[in-house]
Amino acid sequence: MRAIVCAAFGEPETLTVGDLPAPAAGAGEVLIDVTAAGVSFADTLMIRDMHQNKHPLPFAPGMEVAGRIAATGAGVTDFKPGDRVMALVYDGGYATQAKAAATETFPLPEGVSDAAAAALCSVYLTAHCALAFEARLQPGETLLVLGAAGGVGLAAVEVGKALGATVIAAAGGAEKTAVATAHGADAVIDYRTEDLRQRALDLSGAGVDVVFDPVAGDYYEPSFRALDWGGRYLTIGYAGGAIPKIPANLLLVKNRAALGFALMHYRRRHTALLRQSADTLLAWAAAGVVRPRIAADMPLADAPTAMRAVMDRKAIGKYVLTVSP
Ligand SMILES: NC(=O)c1ccc[n+]([C@@H]2O[C@H](COP(=O)([O-])OP(=O)(O)OC[C@H]3O[C@@H](n4cnc5c(N)ncnc54)[C@H](OP(=O)(O)O)[C@@H]3O)[C@@H](O)[C@H]2O)c1
Repeated sequence: MRAIVCAAFGEPETLTVGDLPAPAAGAGEVLIDVTAAGVSFADTLMIRDMHQNKHPLPFAPGMEVAGRIAATGAGVTDFKPGDRVMALVYDGGYATQAKAAATETFPLPEGVSDAAAAALCSVYLTAHCALAFEARLQPGETLLVLGAAGGVGLAAVEVGKALGATVIAAAGGAEKTAVATAHGADAVIDYRTEDLRQRALDLSGAGVDVVFDPVAGDYYEPSFRALDWGGRYLTIGYAGGAIPKIPANLLLVKNRAALGFALMHYRRRHTALLRQSADTLLAWAAAGVVRPRIAADMPLADAPTAMRAVMDRKAIGKYVLTVSP
């Protein structure tokens, strides 16, 4: 099958368009004819051997796809060939075929395009599982989202609004904060030019209830210190660099909690909740409650360009690769 091939760990520009053996659906798995693949920050880590999961060479990057079921493995009863689906995969998304666990494959409703599903899949599942199940975000609470125009950040803005929260979106630059506003943020902070902690305190009154942080680096501490009594800090990722070291006294003084979140936990151990989350998100997408923003829709061969844009902090929403047979 045709694929974007990572034959040696390195930068996006070292990837090539080539052939890899087509995967086969094993027990509990489905084989998908891929029509669209989402580009994630994690893809840029796996090709440089910086991702927490190891990927034996050669492989195709890509952790989320949309397409049609081509075949089903033993024991799979929920899907049949031809069904439109989106799926989480471990790698191999940037290819004409990918295999996925049936527990990580979700039927697409009418009204959700393949490109929208590829843009929604991993980032909206991350935002929804983290906010609804881990932070237990309540209607009327205040949510501060960092990196709010990035893939997972913009998803958290929309999911936070759909869960009934007041959302403060923090991002770098006017173009990014404007996109967050267009996707429902109640207030915005440009953390390149404004004092993140002070603005979050001013906007929220007493402080925010939940921080959703996929960026960390310089922004972890001011956002953490903006948490109100009983506030919850979700550590989602480290796109900005340094991994936070959270002192216990910052937890103690206001009964705060720091919550780790890896979508993998739900993929491996809470598949019923993952499915519930996907059903909710796809219904919201079909109804227009959430509107995944496609930064650009590109042919498969342009994967290196899309990955470089993500690494250069240029992505606003999600890059999607269109895959033709
Ligand atoms: N825990 C999980 O299960 C899970 C799931 C999905 C993603 N993640 C993680 O979440 C993070 C964001 O993923 P994503 O796909 O949303 O990425 P993305 O679309 O590239 O967004 C990342 C955001 O981080 C900010 N940023 C700050 N410094 C950056 C830098 N040096 N390089 C790139 N971005 C920088 C940028 O926003 P500003 O310019 O506005 O600062 C950017 O929009 C990654 O670390 C990813 O691995 C974790």
